[in-house]
Amino acid sequence: MSKKERKKRSEIPEAVSLITLVDKSSPVSERYRTVRTNIQFASSADRQIKTLVVTSSGPGEGKSTTSANLAVVFANSGQSVLLVDADMRKSTVHKTFQLTNNVGLSNVLSSDMGVKEAVQRSVVPNLYVMTSGPKAPNPSELLGSTRMDQLIMELRDSYDFIIFDMPPIVAVTDAQIMASKADGTLLVVRENVTRKDSLQKARELLSMVNANVLGAVFNGSTDENDQGYYYYGTDN
Ligand SMILES: Nc1ncnc2c1ncn2[C@@H]1O[C@H](COP(=O)(O)OP(=O)(O)OP(=O)(O)O)[C@@H](O)[C@H]1O
Ligand SMILES: [Mg+2]
Repeated sequence: MSKKERKKRSEIPEAVSLITLVDKSSPVSERYRTVRTNIQFASSADRQIKTLVVTSSGPGEGKSTTSANLAVVFANSGQSVLLVDADMRKSTVHKTFQLTNNVGLSNVLSSDMGVKEAVQRSVVPNLYVMTSGPKAPNPSELLGSTRMDQLIMELRDSYDFIIFDMPPIVAVTDAQIMASKADGTLLVVRENVTRKDSLQKARELLSMVNANVLGAVFNGSTDENDQGYYYYGTDN
């Protein structure tokens, strides 16, 4: 780690332990930047990628880790980025960024709370966060509502890039709903965790709603000290 990076690191709260923040020059951080580049290349004038859904077939495969690190590297490139915790069932983004979760997405979708009230600044310049908000009994209905469509339009006007961290797609319909609304979807695949039949099911669910699957991020390491290998490639 360079001297400059050590200084930067000391400005980041200890508990925010994302690899792209604590060790920018590590190979894993570099791989997240490669994913960013690939997404940027997938974006064209007639098919701009401004809203991105991150999901995976099952639980614990690295969706939230991938969403948060990608949000950091996009923000590092100077774009204003909003990370939305759209996993209203098992929300973690507030913990990752050491934020409160008193208000967030569930409030915006179920009351007349405005976006500004529900968005928080993160420790990372250019990176804003909308946490999940208090538990709602009906996440799928909220995400499928016309209010959600309005919210996406509003967010598109306010931020350069918006990432939605989702629940697993095979278990509940939330990610499928959001993939149908977003410009692009990334599927996270984790070595020794992702099941082949579940991955196949995930792809079927995405193709049913004509989701624009940009590729798979291979979260491949089982070694806890090494946050893994992230490959990117089109898989459709
Ligand atoms: N490549 C990896 N190597 C080691 N640990 C990892 C790796 N990727 C993720 N983890 C850890 O695995 C756990 C699950 O990761 P994460 O929360 O990102 O998954 P998720 O897909 O969002 O899970 P959920 O389905 O519960 O939302 C976390 O504790 C995370 O730190
Ligand atoms: Mg998660």
